[in-house]
Amino acid sequence: MTDTRTIRIEALRFNPETDSEPRLQRYEVPFTPDMSVLQGLQYIKDHLDGSLTFRWSCRMAVCGSCGMMINGRPHLSCETFLRDLYPGPVRVEPLDHFPVQRDLAIDQAGFLDKLAAIKPYIVSAKERPLSEGPSRQTPAQLDAYYQYSQCINCLLCYAACPQFGLNPDFIGPAALSLLHRYNLDSRDIGWSVRADAANADVGVWECTVVGYCSEVCPKGVDPMHAVNENKVNSALDYLGVKRLLGGR
Ligand code: FES
Repeated sequence: MTDTRTIRIEALRFNPETDSEPRLQRYEVPFTPDMSVLQGLQYIKDHLDGSLTFRWSCRMAVCGSCGMMINGRPHLSCETFLRDLYPGPVRVEPLDHFPVQRDLAIDQAGFLDKLAAIKPYIVSAKERPLSEGPSRQTPAQLDAYYQYSQCINCLLCYAACPQFGLNPDFIGPAALSLLHRYNLDSRDIGWSVRADAANADVGVWECTVVGYCSEVCPKGVDPMHAVNENKVNSALDYLGVKRLLGGR
């Protein structure tokens, strides 16, 4: 016999083109123990209200598109289960600190610009022909950057960051983690191509070391550690000793 219960989901509704204020809309959603909050929202969309807007893709904590505030805390809705929130209600809202496009969908354009600014790809000292085969790394070289490579750009860390809430120009935790990921990669020429982004007024020194970003990351990335390491790099760069110490 299927264990079906009902839980109330309160979703924030807002269309900036037509609404002057956001409002909460309540839905009674039947659920089974295996249903995530995302599946609850999909039930609403399929059976109760097709106008509710939210993003998702993979449904398995990989693509990073289903982030939202759930009961006031940033979560991936596909890996947050209704059974754990019973008896509810469950309040879902768009990620804090971002402009709302519609309902639970935020405008990600500002983040994408920041991501482009840190050059999120390997910059090699010289072009390497394909005929040379794969560029090999030792396990230690992989370990140096591995945790930062797990970032899925879900933006939960930005919703958790009070400094980003105060200054939307702050380059922020995920972009700075990815900056560190590529700088630490032995195949990349590192600091020399990303120093301007790290040193900028809205770079690493804007961080006030609250650390909530690292707490909410669903993939175990530690953005605060990345930022702290780059504060050291930035200080050494300012003093002109980074290169003397072998920093790339
Ligand atoms: S749907 Fe892809 S991370 Fe949740």
